[in-house]
Amino acid sequence: MTTPHPYTGKLAVLYENHGDPLPFAQLAEQLAVPLRTTEAADFSQHEAFFLSWRDGCLKLLDHELLKKGGMTVDIEPRQGEQRSWPAPKDGALAKALGRKTKTVVDATTGWGQDSLHIFRMGYELLCIERSPLMAALLADGLQRLAQADWMQRLQLQPPRLLVGNAIDVLAALPELPDCIYLDPMFPPKRKKSALAKKSMMVLRDLLGDDEDKDALFAAAMQATGKRVVVKCPDYAEPLGGVKPNDSFHGKLLRYDVFLK
Ligand SMILES: C[S@@+](CC[C@H](N)C(=O)[O-])C[C@H]1O[C@@H](n2cnc3c(N)ncnc32)[C@H](O)[C@@H]1O
Repeated sequence: MTTPHPYTGKLAVLYENHGDPLPFAQLAEQLAVPLRTTEAADFSQHEAFFLSWRDGCLKLLDHELLKKGGMTVDIEPRQGEQRSWPAPKDGALAKALGRKTKTVVDATTGWGQDSLHIFRMGYELLCIERSPLMAALLADGLQRLAQADWMQRLQLQPPRLLVGNAIDVLAALPELPDCIYLDPMFPPKRKKSALAKKSMMVLRDLLGDDEDKDALFAAAMQATGKRVVVKCPDYAEPLGGVKPNDSFHGKLLRYDVFLK
């Protein structure tokens, strides 16, 4: 039996009648989703989400954003983050990654916001993402990062992205990283959290909860050289039903550290 395509009826690539249409057609084919054009009067009746290049970035649009804007992999440092490279290794995330850690694998890259923070702190980073949609958005973000002035000035390469289920990818890593970082999707505590960012809510809408997170945790414990760090909401039970060796608290969230 074939599994239904995860984006069936939900996602299309949208060509807005400017620029070369070829990359749009190629992306639609790669993701096996329809290609729509704004010329067709009822294009927005079909899907809830659209992918389109706007202002030089690949963007994810819902109906609210169709006129203008879009969600994209943001390569700019977060508010309050120092703009030098490497940025200081401080804050709860750096503490959880560990003072002696050099190599990190982010096995749940998503919108890449944690990955890019980890990269900007100077860790050697490998990214893994299983959703082809998120992987397309990430590939576009990493390409923009490669072209950023500061990256070119410092002759830095953006982190590598592997597309696939991390449970399999981790088992095949040629070298054990110092740390494997996990941020799977947990079920929300309330139906709609006013605090959840729109981009994260959309991710949940499109991909659903990560039901196999315990298996991912087990695979990460096997594949790590030294530690696994799990980001979770402050109300969630630790992953894998194991007591963490340490926990560092951020705003409404926790980084649990599991030593090998
Ligand atoms: C909550 S989001 C991560 C957000 C990310 N930390 C950020 O800063 O944007 C979870 C992501 O992990 C991915 N994911 C979950 N389980 C995975 C697995 N076993 N292998 C690869 N990717 C996975 C999901 O597809 C989703 O994009």
